[in-house]
Amino acid sequence: DILPVILSGGSGTRLWPLSREAYPKQFLALAGEQTMLQATWERVAPIAGRPPLVVANEEHRFVAAEQLQQLGVQPQAILLEPVGRNTAPAIAVAALEATLEEGDPVLLVLPSDHVIADEEAFRAAVLSALPAAREGKLVTFGIVPTGPETGYGYIKASSGGAVRAVDRFVEKPDAETALQYVQSGEYFWNSGMFLFKASRYLAELERLHPEMLAASRNAWQLARRDTDFTRLDKDAFAAVPADSIDYAVMEKTNDAVVVPLDAGWNDVGSWTALRDVSAQDADGNAHHGDVIAIDCRNTYAYGERLIALVGLDDVIVVETDDAVMVGRSDRMQEIKQVVAKLKADA
Ligand code: GDD
Ligand code: MG
Repeated sequence: DILPVILSGGSGTRLWPLSREAYPKQFLALAGEQTMLQATWERVAPIAGRPPLVVANEEHRFVAAEQLQQLGVQPQAILLEPVGRNTAPAIAVAALEATLEEGDPVLLVLPSDHVIADEEAFRAAVLSALPAAREGKLVTFGIVPTGPETGYGYIKASSGGAVRAVDRFVEKPDAETALQYVQSGEYFWNSGMFLFKASRYLAELERLHPEMLAASRNAWQLARRDTDFTRLDKDAFAAVPADSIDYAVMEKTNDAVVVPLDAGWNDVGSWTALRDVSAQDADGNAHHGDVIAIDCRNTYAYGERLIALVGLDDVIVVETDDAVMVGRSDRMQEIKQVVAKLKADA
């Protein structure tokens, strides 16, 4: 009785110029034949008890619907947000929608922009977490950290077992703190996927953020439904306080548990991460499209036209119809600044 909830509302600015507001990364085939949204569904389909609930921005309704239709999936519902209010409200409206169903489904909340190499291991981890979720726990999936990344949530688990109590959950610590956590060996990264009963999430939100739940419920009750979409009320949803599930719920709850996940997880948060999950040659170069590289190491090139690289190390090149990006692989997080500048100039 797992009901997948696919969050597809992100804007994916760190993969500019490919990922754009109109077409963010979850709708692109960046790491395989399928788009990341499609891969998200396919990897969970064998253990899903029913089609997914999808929560997306109104602007992306047709892309989202079409990409799922290509796989022959008719979502349980596609909930449309007129504006993004971050993940806590997005999951709240999904949980409310789930209450329309028989029983009290266990929601598997899935970001739509991750790569998971070992799908069997992923499904096994989810199934092993199911009893805890049925008992009312809020389950997180923990990744063994490989470095002091500041873009992740950190989970301190009590020792032992396949399902461990969470002692502490810290969302996006500063660099110094992240380093301490990684060195201590006691912390996992939060994968951003969650498993809990719909009623349990709503009860916890009620306790921790009653105003957020009330506003989300209001937007959901006023939603307009047609055969394809559930459109949350514009004004009511705009009035919902914005926050992520990590800050709003996971840092504060006493009922979180963590299930370790060793499945080749990567959140593809940058071009560098994409290079690292792509097939590489002996010199660490990974390419997408027509690329010639002479005496290069650890480069990544993505484009439609022929790209030639000569004598470069640790350089990323991405070309699209209307933009070319060239940068150092250790500075790809700064692409956010390019996007911010474009927005400011527009
Ligand atoms: N529907 C909807 N609406 N989806 C959203 C919204 C929204 O307003 N905002 C974000 N999402 C989707 C994104 O598309 C993505 O799939 C997922 O929710 C997570 O959002 P991110 O914005 O990518 O979060 P993050 O990467 O900063 O942090 C989260 O993920 C990390 C792992 O990748 C947190 O859960 C961290 O704790 C975690 O380590
Ligand atoms: Mg993310």
